Amino acid sequence: MKVNNLITIDGISGAGKGTLAKSLALELDYSLLDSGTLYRLVGLIAKRLETSDSKEIAKELNSREIIIEFNDLKNLTEVFFGSERVSEELRSEEVAMKASDLAKNSYIRNTLIKHQRDYFDSNKGLIADGRDMGTVIFPQAKWKFFLIASIEERAKRRLRQLKEVGLEVNMPTLIDNIKARDEQDTNRDISPAVPADDALTIDTSDLSAEGLKNKVLKIIKG
Ligand code: C5P
Repeated sequence: MKVNNLITIDGISGAGKGTLAKSLALELDYSLLDSGTLYRLVGLIAKRLETSDSKEIAKELNSREIIIEFNDLKNLTEVFFGSERVSEELRSEEVAMKASDLAKNSYIRNTLIKHQRDYFDSNKGLIADGRDMGTVIFPQAKWKFFLIASIEERAKRRLRQLKEVGLEVNMPTLIDNIKARDEQDTNRDISPAVPADDALTIDTSDLSAEGLKNKVLKIIKG
């Protein structure tokens, strides 16, 4: 049976998933799962431990509490790994690429399944943002969206987000990084970033954040 208060938002990098997920969670007063942050944490651990050993990384990941909170006033996702604040460090393209490399690994993906499913409380409702939310983690969701946008538009948005957290990167490098991640995330064998059969695909290239939110709300509210 489909679950009405479960909304999945998947798609490629920079297509507007995070912004839409946050605004819907605020509007509907649902919880929010930003699953990319968990994968970025995996990337950060790999970088720090200088390893790609999935078991070693999973052990470290499970050794501390992970808190992900959206700070509405600062428009920033605050992330604490144990007592350490890692919010900005997680945003770098280096960490994102490491996350994408490790996201191909089934041991890592299986380790993260429970972390992600625990976010859903049927009394509250959930917006889940990622690559495989509608296909693998929450196939029972009634509302599934898959966002795409042109590479130019996505790179512009990503550049703006990186600047907001004080990270500098040039446009050609950013475009190359996004393309490499798209290629890897879309073509991997397990949990590729593809729309679920029952997902609605939306091209956000020409939509404002507000326009996209209203379009989705109209669909959900009928
Ligand atoms: O969404 P974000 O850009 O933060 O995700 C970073 C990387 O984590 C993605 O490029 C992807 O490889 C991986 N990821 C994933 N499955 C998810 C969320 C993120 O494989 N559900």
